[in-house]
Amino acid sequence: MPTVYFQTFGCQMNVADSDTIHQLLSQRGFVLSDSPDGSDIVIVNTCSVREAAEKRAKSRIAEFANKKSGGQKLWVTGCMAQRLGDALKEQIRGVDLVIGARQMERIGEVIDEALPPDESAPAVFNKSAVTDFVPVMRGCDNYCAYCIVPYVRGREHSIPYHLVETAVKEKISQGIKEITFLGQNVNSYNFEGMDFPDLLLKLAEVNGLERIRFTTSHPKDCTEKLIDAIASSNKFATHIHMPFQAGADRILALMNRKYTSGHYRGLIEMIRKKIPDADITSDILVGFPTESGAEFKETLSLVNDVRFTTAFMFAYSPREGTIAAAMKEEISKEEKHARLSELIAVQTEITRSIYQESVGKELEVLISGKQEKRDEAWMGQDKGCKRVLISCASAEAGMILKARAIKSSGMTLIAERML
Ligand code: SAH
Ligand code: SF4
Ligand code: F3S
Repeated sequence: MPTVYFQTFGCQMNVADSDTIHQLLSQRGFVLSDSPDGSDIVIVNTCSVREAAEKRAKSRIAEFANKKSGGQKLWVTGCMAQRLGDALKEQIRGVDLVIGARQMERIGEVIDEALPPDESAPAVFNKSAVTDFVPVMRGCDNYCAYCIVPYVRGREHSIPYHLVETAVKEKISQGIKEITFLGQNVNSYNFEGMDFPDLLLKLAEVNGLERIRFTTSHPKDCTEKLIDAIASSNKFATHIHMPFQAGADRILALMNRKYTSGHYRGLIEMIRKKIPDADITSDILVGFPTESGAEFKETLSLVNDVRFTTAFMFAYSPREGTIAAAMKEEISKEEKHARLSELIAVQTEITRSIYQESVGKELEVLISGKQEKRDEAWMGQDKGCKRVLISCASAEAGMILKARAIKSSGMTLIAERML
């Protein structure tokens, strides 16, 4: 049987896209390989969000190109593929096909052109996962000043409800219990008047879908209706990922984020009131052009006040073609990294203490599989965003178990099953 190997960089949207390509290839008899060596196709799904992400992807592609042997094909997909297009084939000899992120809309045809379907090939798609992603939106119209995503992913649009529901039902038939709905700004979902809370409440009625997550929430479009919807059903995970990026209003305005830190704090207060045990997580960007030391301190004080369970933290990386790339007064690399280290130290301590505070609490854990190195230990995730290791003799992937946290170890809660 022909084999395909995936190396996926970037966000969950890319993970979902790799999965879609994998499904299409499996209809042609391809099976997933866990090594690039000897695979018939090697696919590198790329990200452009920061310069470092592109560098990493390029060096992987070059490495695969150098090792190519036999009739192996090398495909490059995703956001960097979109940004650089066929120029990539000239930059790195050995790349056979470039499929930009925007071609995901018509990926069926793209794969048909590259690999005419073989009637005789058996479909061999089987997943062992219990949790998966389903995009509800594509593209982005927000044009945050630092961000390349609108340029590589194109205009924002909402996927029609019936297509989302069909995708969900298909995943459930493959054994999936939990779905994370994806979009760059899910809060602006709008399909024929159906908004995001309406969409979530309707999906919560789908049989067999046991837990619902979504990302990313943009503070400018997050509403009380959304928070009420999440609080209304036990099917919703109690996790809200809502990036605030920066604490100073002047920087937020320059970033074109369209909210103030006061508005953000108000949303957090509302979430804490209506969903008291929610895990709130964020993306934070330091060193945006002209950010002063005092403005960076405003980011730190927001972090200290909100107490995120975890956060993704980044030093600003100029991206060609974005509004911010044309701004002067860049903060030096050393200063950006000093700010980032200070922020990471503060957040790491908050994360540690939040995990510690969970000890003794009752958890609902969706089991994802056995912990390989230990007998009678199972991995899973609680209703928020915490990783849990449960000791119990018999369990099964896909079960939701009640457990009590007895210890916190790094970013994992150790728990005992409750009977
Ligand atoms: N749509 C999501 C974010 C997608 S990109 C949202 O709006 O929240 C993921 C994160 O990467 C962003 O939240 C931001 O913190 C970071 N990021 C984006 N562009 C960046 C850049 N040029 N330099 C550094 N970090 C960046
Ligand atoms: Fe980028 Fe802003 Fe769109 Fe998020 S909302 S993808 S940060 S432009
Ligand atoms: Fe995601 Fe990176 Fe593209 S963050 S949308 S894979 S640029």
